[in-house]
Amino acid sequence: MKKTLLALGCLVLAMASCSSPEERSSTTSTTTTTESPATTTETPAAEAPAVKGEGEKLIAKSDCIGCHNKVQKVIGPAYVDIAAKYPLNDENVNHLADKIIAGGKGVWGEVPMTPHSALSKDDAKKMVSYILSLKK
Ligand code: HEC
Repeated sequence: MKKTLLALGCLVLAMASCSSPEERSSTTSTTTTTESPATTTETPAAEAPAVKGEGEKLIAKSDCIGCHNKVQKVIGPAYVDIAAKYPLNDENVNHLADKIIAGGKGVWGEVPMTPHSALSKDDAKKMVSYILSLKK
């Protein structure tokens, strides 16, 4: 059992040490980046959940919870319903971030959302990114 694990470990090591010099030589031949290939490939995947996590925290700290629930309509629509209505893209994130800051009504009914003028556009966008990432 121990021998198998050891052999596996060696194999992983061998593969890792085999692929990195190869990639490194290909990057150094074209550009002079100092970043290792491993970090460049991991960055985009790690960034998105971080923004969502931040948005979730910002929402928890704000007054949104008084009118919104993740899965149920309260005074405002449920986040999953908003996510179902708007696909997650730059245009929608921009538009909804503006709407949260300015407030307004008419999309979901005649009850208005209060303005959040103290909120920065960046924070509002993070909140929207989190909301639109929720699916039923
Ligand atoms: C006073 C209650 C209230 C608060 C507080 C509130 N909302 Fe709303 N929200 C609403 C209502 C009502 C609507 C539906 C507006 C409409 O029909 O256009 C809405 C709509 C939305 C929409 C969809 C807008 C659209 O045009 O489809 C988003 C996104 C949203 N709220 C996010 C938030 C976030 C994030 C917060 C916290 C910063 C927040 N809301 C705080 C009541 C509220």
